[in-house]
Amino acid sequence: MTELLSIILAAGEGTRMRSAMPKVLHRVGGLPVVSHVIRSAKAAGSRIAVVVGPGHEEVEAAVTRFEADAQISRQMERLGTAHAVQQARAAYEDAPGHVLVLYADTPLVTGATIAAIVDRLDGGADMVVVGFTPDNPTGYGRLLTKNGRVTAIREHKDASEDERRIGLCNSGIIGFRGETLRAVIDRIGNSNAKGEYYLTDAVELAAGDGKRVDFIEADASELVGVDNRIKLAEAEATFQAFKRREVMEAGATLRDPGSVWFSWDTEIGRDVTIFPNVVFGPGVKVADNVEIRAFCDIEDTTIGDGARIGPFVRLRGGAELGPDVHLGNFVEVKNSKIGAGTKAGHLSYLGDAEIGTETNIGAGTITCNYDGVNKDKTLIGDNVFIGSNASLVAPVSIGDGAYTASGSVITQDVPADALALGRARQENKLGYAPRLKARALAKKAAKGK
Ligand code: UD1
Repeated sequence: MTELLSIILAAGEGTRMRSAMPKVLHRVGGLPVVSHVIRSAKAAGSRIAVVVGPGHEEVEAAVTRFEADAQISRQMERLGTAHAVQQARAAYEDAPGHVLVLYADTPLVTGATIAAIVDRLDGGADMVVVGFTPDNPTGYGRLLTKNGRVTAIREHKDASEDERRIGLCNSGIIGFRGETLRAVIDRIGNSNAKGEYYLTDAVELAAGDGKRVDFIEADASELVGVDNRIKLAEAEATFQAFKRREVMEAGATLRDPGSVWFSWDTEIGRDVTIFPNVVFGPGVKVADNVEIRAFCDIEDTTIGDGARIGPFVRLRGGAELGPDVHLGNFVEVKNSKIGAGTKAGHLSYLGDAEIGTETNIGAGTITCNYDGVNKDKTLIGDNVFIGSNASLVAPVSIGDGAYTASGSVITQDVPADALALGRARQENKLGYAPRLKARALAKKAAKGK
């Protein structure tokens, strides 16, 4: 297999995002757009080089978090796409194979498109331009073609009236044989309407050298460039549509696909049913045969086979649910393990807890895991019965088979098989109710005078 290097251009200022954050850190499917591009390139087996702008330390950090081996270079002055590529010289000067140039703000480029570029290069093309036909081509570079080859790319600002009528546009994604890139990159000038060093001029130079410049066409939805919030929303919609299809193709039922939102890494098993209005944040794995009812918000969680979740469940920050767990309405779980067959049917907060198997957590159970300074653990064994409306004040542990009486505030460990009562004993004062009522009526009458 030919070696592949991807140079990802991320030095744009992104002013149209109107954001304090660099544009390539805005997220689609919960992942920064630049990381999407790295992910696609890596999936094609490519080495990664990223060109970032000055002061974009957060972008550098995001890149290395996602791909520790990425070669990062900085473009100190934004002088155009060819100038940006030149900043990655250390990565491409000895690159033995092909070099792809990708934009960090074009997150949805597919593995199939990258594979098609590589195929053409392997098949003898010296350069491959990825073209597309947008609804409105204004602003894009146009592909000038002859006999199925690209002869030049004309930027919109520099194009004639006739050239502006061409619908086939440059997506920005270009593949080079390494030697072709090295032969043309330093010959690119900046005498154009913007006074920038355009990477697109590489086409005319290569074609002039007698090189073969091919183009392939990809779908416009795959090539959406996220440079304002409207495009960001478009990219999100496309990503979600793709992910919903993927999940359904893998054997899950989505009752109302358009209202279920996934993250880039959501894993859903077979015969899972997801009701409307469910949102998956990053880090969720759902095993087979799970039912997730309406209005659940789930992130950083694993859900075991056959579990029944919702409606109105919130799972966050390190929840691990075993097989056949049942969580009902208004249950929140954070950083907790819940064993097989355990149930929490209603109105609970379970945080920093480890709960065994076949345990029943009564309605209104709260693990009091935070004293205002520290977080502590609640340990609950197997076959435990926590009566309704219990406060379990951590650190505390409740042994296998124990019972806690409803309304208890449990502050001490409960041994296995014990019954814990942590509430005032009930006292019945016979005949007292009418006296109380008479007293209240007298008070009201006195006020009325
Ligand atoms: C570019 C293409 C155009 C294509 C369009 C598709 C050129 C000259 N033009 O135009 O043919 O139709 O993309 O969206 O390449 N960047 C840098 N450093 C720079 C300049 C740009 O890193 O100095 C990065 C930006 O972050 C961005 C990408 O390169 O990711 C594209 O730059 P931009 O200036 O937006 O190019 P367009 O004018 O859109």
